[in-house]
Amino acid sequence: MKTQVAIIGAGPAGLLLGHLLKAEGIDCVVVERQTPDYVLSRIRAGVLEQITVSLLERLGLDGRLKAEGLVEHGFNLADGERLIRIDCMGLTGKSVVVYGQTEITRDLMDAAPSRGLEVIYGAEDVALHGVESDAPAITFRKNGAERRIEARFIAGCDGFHGPSRKAIPASAAREYERVYPFGWLGILADVPPCHEELIYANHERGFALASMRSHTRSRYYIDVPLTERVEDWSDERLWDELAVRLGPDAAANITRGPALEKSIAPLRSYVFEPMRHGSLLLCGDAAHIVPPTGAKGLNLAASDVHYAAEALRGYFTRADNDGIADYSAKALARVWKCERFSWSLTKLMHRFPDDGPFERAMQVAELDYIASSVAAQTSIAENYVGLPV
Ligand code: APR
Ligand code: PHB
Repeated sequence: MKTQVAIIGAGPAGLLLGHLLKAEGIDCVVVERQTPDYVLSRIRAGVLEQITVSLLERLGLDGRLKAEGLVEHGFNLADGERLIRIDCMGLTGKSVVVYGQTEITRDLMDAAPSRGLEVIYGAEDVALHGVESDAPAITFRKNGAERRIEARFIAGCDGFHGPSRKAIPASAAREYERVYPFGWLGILADVPPCHEELIYANHERGFALASMRSHTRSRYYIDVPLTERVEDWSDERLWDELAVRLGPDAAANITRGPALEKSIAPLRSYVFEPMRHGSLLLCGDAAHIVPPTGAKGLNLAASDVHYAAEALRGYFTRADNDGIADYSAKALARVWKCERFSWSLTKLMHRFPDDGPFERAMQVAELDYIASSVAAQTSIAENYVGLPV
């Protein structure tokens, strides 16, 4: 089988890139290890920057997003006593849209057949070949049969644990990583949100986040030591802890209910450079991971995919190689800014095990400064709604 771009991974990055390339008449195939149901079973964040919304609008795949997404003009930081509202719309003229990432994947997945985007699920042992040549290929096994796809480019959209990054020789690669000494215990419940906008709280007892999926479905998190197990946390214990950490105002509006899903996720900052090697372009979690504190993961995947699609369009429609040559530097410039924001907000809003009274005093002082400074709030707001692409 031959195609122009072979895409590994049918998560948000891979499916979004596939649709954008098909819309430009560029031939591509997506190869995914898991089943559609498995891909959709992953509970992920869902705060969309304008870049992500715009790409879905451009594809005409924003119908459900427009109907069900919650447009939010701001969000809140809490210090255990008060809410500090960051007025994103007032400060930047932009908003965010709360819409589950699973739903974006579902919208992209459902539209693939009608738009001629071929997605091969259940592909085992995907391997990359000849990435340093102009004629790379991927091989895999499907239903016991060996398959080979030859392409001009390979897009590695296979997430943090996929094979693409490993196809780049260590001599050409640089990795940057910070693993955080806590995880996020999350609960999904069919209860109305406690507040109409997100609340990120830094309480004496630790971090909490009040988010939502709709007006009737809420998503909450607290940070827990990495030694904790989800079995240690009954629903009631978690609701009690959320009520304390979010502060009295929010707590008064928390509606409790049984967990539809409850899990602990580790936090990491990670960047892999370069994001292109020969004919292999990396997009999304294949190249970088951010802690969820800034809700940047999906949106960074979207900006990578935007840059990759523009580069590939230039190559295939204008024989212009500049976009391909510039892809890594261009994508990384935005990746590093978003890594900085996610890392800084994580540092501001979490109690680290080695922190003493001075570090706590610095967090309290920074939150107090943010509460009193339009400049500080503007800086946070412009990062939260999404830096320019
Ligand atoms: N072969 C084929 N597919 C693979 C392989 C492999 N060896 N390894 C991983 N994959 C698939 C995974 O099953 C998954 O469906 O690649 C896909 C990667 O999707 P994500 O992990 O969601 O990564 P990405 O598309 O970059 O999404 C980026 O969106 O998922 C949210 O916030 C999350 O930061 C993340 C962002
Ligand atoms: C979520 O709704 O799951 C969510 C929202 C914002 C974040 C992280 C997760 O920063």
